[in-house]
Amino acid sequence: MPSIDLRDRPIVITGASSGIGRATAITCAKVGMPVVLAARRMDRLEQTRARIEQAGGRALAVACDVARREDCERTIQACRDAFGDPYAVFANAGFGYEASALDDEQRLRHLLEVNFFGSLHIIRPALPTMLERGSGHVLVCSSCLSKIGLPYYSAYSMSKAMQDHFARALRLELWDSGIHVSSVHPIGTRTEFFDELSRRSGGRTLADGGSDRFMQPPERVARAIVRCLRKPRGEVWTSRVVRLALAFSIACPGLTDALLARKVARRRDRLAPQTGRSPPHESPTGD
Ligand SMILES: NC(=O)c1ccc[n+]([C@@H]2O[C@H](COP(=O)([O-])OP(=O)(O)OC[C@H]3O[C@@H](n4cnc5c(N)ncnc54)[C@H](OP(=O)(O)O)[C@@H]3O)[C@@H](O)[C@H]2O)c1
Repeated sequence: MPSIDLRDRPIVITGASSGIGRATAITCAKVGMPVVLAARRMDRLEQTRARIEQAGGRALAVACDVARREDCERTIQACRDAFGDPYAVFANAGFGYEASALDDEQRLRHLLEVNFFGSLHIIRPALPTMLERGSGHVLVCSSCLSKIGLPYYSAYSMSKAMQDHFARALRLELWDSGIHVSSVHPIGTRTEFFDELSRRSGGRTLADGGSDRFMQPPERVARAIVRCLRKPRGEVWTSRVVRLALAFSIACPGLTDALLARKVARRRDRLAPQTGRSPPHESPTGD
């Protein structure tokens, strides 16, 4: 399949005010895509818009809470008004927190509203014109954790698995439509994600003090996404080692569980004297 020329093909990106979304927006603009930047923090979006325009690209900032369907519909319409029908949508907005699998249901519902339903909210209104045209690309920012449930990360892993399964099902449903559907599976990425995770988890978390070895810069994920836009494929991974380790964990769940349970117990014991308590954390903080 020849490489797709991305020039003048508009893309809508949620969660574009920081991290992976912002880096992807800048990289997409560099290859000539008009970019709609969507998130709640308008000041941050405007900074990125200015940076893209100074470099000769085209961008539009739109205030959007992805948990609100009407905000997402307005964002797609803003793309139509400014640049034309979106060629691509990157459902990227999301967050995580650390808590027991038996934690408060309210918090879980909110996380699913943003991470999972937020993806549907931005994808659905973009699809009709993609179907009419017979071309387009839907990308969903899942995670490597979509393939495994980690202790104290059940809510987050669950939401990422939901995105992963949704993307795969949609990809197969749209197989002959000319619309590509890809799930993105970053490993640990140096963004504001972990600050937000810590804030929402009431302080220090099991993620603190973890190895930096598998952490990547968001620009690496952004480059992989643009490669996928050019040469579409079903799943975007940026670490072969982690992908293989996860394949092993699926093939050998018993052994993986034993290894993981020991590792988490050691980290939890190290954390307890510093915080005066052990997870599960019980200090939910919302938006
Ligand atoms: N960092 C990692 O290690 C990692 C690994 C795997 C997957 N991921 C996934 O990558 C995606 C991006 O995360 P990141 O690492 O780039 O973290 P980040 O820097 O914290 O960015 C998260 C983005 O989501 C936006 N967002 C959060 N809630 C929103 C809402 N209700 N409506 C609209 N936008 C919202 C934030 O913008 P506002 O606050 O301005 O709304 C921000 O732009 C997430 O889906 C995350 O699950 C991250």
